[in-house]
Amino acid sequence: MSKRNYPSAFLHPFSHIPTLEEQGPVIVDRGEGVYIYDDRGRKYLEGNSGLWNVVLGFDNKRLIETAQRAYARLPAYHAFFGRVGQSALDLSERIVKLAPMEANRVFYANSGSEANDTVVKLLWFLAEAEGKPHRRLLLSRRNAYHGMTVMTASLTGKDYVKSASGLPLKEVRHLTCPHHWREAQAGESEKDFSARLALELEQTIRNTGADHIAGFFAEPVMGAGGVIPPPEGYFQAIQPVLGKYGIPLIADEVICGFGRTGEFWGSLTYGIKPDMVVASKVITAGFFPMGAIILSPEMTERIEKACAKYEELPTGFTTGAHPVGCAIAMTALDEILEGGAFANVKAVTPAFQKHLRAMADHPIVGEARGVGLMGALEMVADRKTKEPFAGSLDVSERVARQALKNGLICRPLGQSIVLAPPFIITEKEIAELFGILRRTLDEVHAGIARKAA
Ligand SMILES: Cc1ncc(COP(=O)(O)O)c(C=O)c1O
Repeated sequence: MSKRNYPSAFLHPFSHIPTLEEQGPVIVDRGEGVYIYDDRGRKYLEGNSGLWNVVLGFDNKRLIETAQRAYARLPAYHAFFGRVGQSALDLSERIVKLAPMEANRVFYANSGSEANDTVVKLLWFLAEAEGKPHRRLLLSRRNAYHGMTVMTASLTGKDYVKSASGLPLKEVRHLTCPHHWREAQAGESEKDFSARLALELEQTIRNTGADHIAGFFAEPVMGAGGVIPPPEGYFQAIQPVLGKYGIPLIADEVICGFGRTGEFWGSLTYGIKPDMVVASKVITAGFFPMGAIILSPEMTERIEKACAKYEELPTGFTTGAHPVGCAIAMTALDEILEGGAFANVKAVTPAFQKHLRAMADHPIVGEARGVGLMGALEMVADRKTKEPFAGSLDVSERVARQALKNGLICRPLGQSIVLAPPFIITEKEIAELFGILRRTLDEVHAGIARKAA
């Protein structure tokens, strides 16, 4: 870490300014398997796969070779006006077959945010074309993360979104975060909690009028909210309500999709039957920017009917369905499915979850939760009352900083530390990860105790 590089001309997204001022950025130089190296040769185990995306290793040779071949063949083209690269056609055929519901079309963007944003645009396009321009409201949940464009930041249920004037946009309603440990009433079972949230959904729909609601967005497991798997029966309780009022369900699979939860989709893990699926991140294993919207036949039919009015689909992005990105995504799918990465997720999940749950005995851990190859440790000042640490202690930031010093990258989110290692991680590397994390928590705990004394 080198102070010489800060401040620089680079404006750092989502970065902790005091740390930057004190230590400068970590300049990432290269990667190897599940590790990255900084410009001074220091090695770090990447416990978050970058941002949940680099799941096939930081030096994956097949992806690099595919990119080289694709660049040599057709380094760039768009997909407007009926022109398209073969790799986009091939990828789309493959994705609709793999989708968690019956599906028949894929639309491409460049990120998860753009894809979610486009879903909203499509829903509003349908509202207009179907003669219901008032059908504009979007339902989301507090603590959800759906992106950072103006619309998707509004869908995101985080307080920091309010730091921009006018956000969240008035078209968005946030429902209760489905986190049983934090949000359930005393003695309320997971199933009862789910039933209560379904009732809240139904009351919201009735109060606003079903005719005014364009769609309901949900991550199968809330990722950036702090890895929050849904409580038992949650989707089984809310889906019939959405069905009853004809409200489309959009599964934001940007984090869960392509194997993270131990099933190929989070929707399969939790019995979700979406009308549209949004994918990104793992789709290219982080080697190329891409977002994708997968459509059910019913949504396709409605959209194509609406398009007939305008003689075209009135939206698209210059680099959407990029030929190199689509070629990389094809190889990423090969690596995940036939190359053994998905099989490895299934094989090492029990070890990962066992190590994760074992951390629950630590004096500053309130809850250890997760599914598949993702998990979080929520830290608390008091394990009995679940009282969080005072914000000024920045406990999760401290843990992440100390872990970095110890050679582990993990992410602070609220008062939690989040883990989502690459799909190719071995049991030995999992043991190394949790060994560093336990030592780190001990060190932070001792530091907090010293400060309090
Ligand atoms: C569930 C979910 N949706 C959407 C996004 C936004 O994706 P991007 O950062 O590629 O715009 C993220 C990013 O982490 C995400 O976790």
